[in-house]
Amino acid sequence: MPLLEAKECRMTFKGIQAVKDFSASLEAGKIYGLIGTNGAGKTTVINMLSGVLTPTSGHIFFEGRDITGMKPNRVARAGILRTYQNLRLFGKMTALDNVIIGAQMLARYSFLEGLLRNKNYVQSEAYYREKAMDVLGIMDIARHANTVSGSLAYGTQRRLEIARILVAEPKLLLLDEPAAGMNPQESMELVRIIRQVAAQFGLTILLIEHDMKVIMSLCEHIYVMATGEIIASGAPEEIRSDHKVIAAYLGRVA
Ligand SMILES: Nc1ncnc2c1ncn2[C@@H]1O[C@H](COP(=O)(O)OP(=O)(O)OP(=O)(O)O)[C@@H](O)[C@H]1O
Ligand SMILES: [Mg+2]
Repeated sequence: MPLLEAKECRMTFKGIQAVKDFSASLEAGKIYGLIGTNGAGKTTVINMLSGVLTPTSGHIFFEGRDITGMKPNRVARAGILRTYQNLRLFGKMTALDNVIIGAQMLARYSFLEGLLRNKNYVQSEAYYREKAMDVLGIMDIARHANTVSGSLAYGTQRRLEIARILVAEPKLLLLDEPAAGMNPQESMELVRIIRQVAAQFGLTILLIEHDMKVIMSLCEHIYVMATGEIIASGAPEEIRSDHKVIAAYLGRVA
């Protein structure tokens, strides 16, 4: 059974078909890429998979369970976490506090559940602090723990955003252009860290990226979208030599 399965997901906004048909099957422990031109529907796909949008039609299954239409906080608690195309950090808080808040917001137990299982819940403050420091270390930004996040280098903020969701122990990570705005050195550093994190935690990742170097070096399987549909899917070598992909996308990037 795949970890996540999307079946013919469609998203229509007032008659405009942002996504006409997205079907995908993600196996546990693999890194997947989602590429395509601007407006192809990539972010809309992540919005559907994370519960931000309810598909107009189609179904999403996670660990065999139908999660179509489930609210984002419940989807998150089930183990699907995402980052946003634009940074959503609390700029005036320290890096550490951003991660602690992320952890608390995404805690698997709701407040009520927390009261019922108070053993886990009461110790949360110290628990989260320690856990937050761990993930800052994993993302190689522990030295910035006490720096106000808004004053960190852009590439560091992007990594902090990943730390903030990693702390909630996701099973599936959806990353929307994690290398956007990074210089080549920063994006290669990010590739190294993502690969390491994925291996260490056995994570499954679906990654949207325009940086083909990042996509080609990280992903085992790539989905290519154009105007709301998947036009190709396969291993990096297959994608690179696919005529439809070259015509619709790679030609323009190159
Ligand atoms: N909430 C919305 N209401 C109306 N139209 C939307 C909405 N969200 C997205 N769209 C439209 O759906 C299409 C797909 O948008 P989407 O953001 O998914 O593209 P994308 O592939 O992520 O593009 P980019 O690479 O620029 O981030 C676009 O035409 C966009 O204008
Ligand atoms: Mg997008």
